Amino acid sequence: MSAVRVALAGAGAIGEIVARDTYPGAAVELVAVVDPDQKRAEAVAKYSGARAFGELKDALDEVDAVDVRVPHHLHAQVALTAIEHGKHVLVEKPIATTLDDARRIVDAARSAGVVLAVAENYPHLQAVQQARALLADGVIGRTLAVRSTRAYQLDGVWRRDWREGTGPAGGILLDQGTHQVSLIRQLAGSVSAVSAVGSHETLSLTLRLDSGIVAQSLLTWQSPGTWDQSEATLYGDAGRLDVVVDYEQHQGGYALWTPDRTERLGNENYYDSHASIVNDWAAAIQESRDPLVIGEEGLEDLAVVIAAADSLQADGAFIDVRRQQ
Ligand SMILES: NC(=O)c1ccc[n+]([C@@H]2O[C@H](COP(=O)([O-])OP(=O)(O)OC[C@H]3O[C@@H](n4cnc5c(N)ncnc54)[C@H](O)[C@@H]3O)[C@@H](O)[C@H]2O)c1
Repeated sequence: MSAVRVALAGAGAIGEIVARDTYPGAAVELVAVVDPDQKRAEAVAKYSGARAFGELKDALDEVDAVDVRVPHHLHAQVALTAIEHGKHVLVEKPIATTLDDARRIVDAARSAGVVLAVAENYPHLQAVQQARALLADGVIGRTLAVRSTRAYQLDGVWRRDWREGTGPAGGILLDQGTHQVSLIRQLAGSVSAVSAVGSHETLSLTLRLDSGIVAQSLLTWQSPGTWDQSEATLYGDAGRLDVVVDYEQHQGGYALWTPDRTERLGNENYYDSHASIVNDWAAAIQESRDPLVIGEEGLEDLAVVIAAADSLQADGAFIDVRRQQ
């Protein structure tokens, strides 16, 4: 079977990282790079000898699939254009900025029979997969509580007006909250209600989980942090498990502690997971199957952060995540 031909929409910070580091070794062919900023499109296209375009519609005839790496408020527009033209889609997190748009994307992809994958990293991280296996083996006994923390300083190429603003695309909830909700759901199951206090840049969440496990999440991009953080800790009645995520080097993995066993394993960099995301998407297209992170999963993560945003406006009141589903 011939390789899936991909257009990358969005040649910004992450677009450049995946074009430079992920696509050259991936099981797809990056043939087009689209960005209204022609210089960015051309610079990023050079990594793979792809053609540069200013608009997605001009690239569509040349591709089977579109990888959407544009600002949050443009995810729906770009993804829907691709799906309407029968193209498979990989869309960055959050899948969209509203539940209506997210549902529109999910429904359109199912009706068109194209593969829709969400570029949500946590289910692809070895650290998370290893932690899930240890939990399933009962290594820390019965899980009682989970806490997640994403604390770092927003800087460098990640500082963008659209990301930092208070508009519909902005704030840490949409940017990192969806990741942390995905992480918590991977480790402890679905979220039924959420309470949030703080600001759009630093906040804490208390989550009610269907499993009854107690859950908290702290998010800030205003505090400089170490590059290898314990992003989640699971507290069991027989031990403790940390999920370590490393953004700069290769020490991501897990740390396990029980009264008679201590273990620290890991050799992963966070950005390695983009290869797994792209290769899984490509395989799903070739094999006509669902990818690991389907649109419905992206929708579930988004529903939690939208409920959290409503809670912020309601002085931390618990908001039912499924009220609009
Ligand atoms: N999963 C991850 O690890 C990860 C990491 C960083 C960013 N992201 C996500 O990737 C997306 C992009 O983030 P970024 O930091 O690269 O943003 P960015 O602002 O650096 O880049 C976005 C690019 O999209 C371009 N663009 C705007 N409209 C377009 C259109 N209609 N068609 C094609 N290109 C268009 C812009 O000109 C810009 O170059 C966001 O959804 C973000 O949340 C994910």
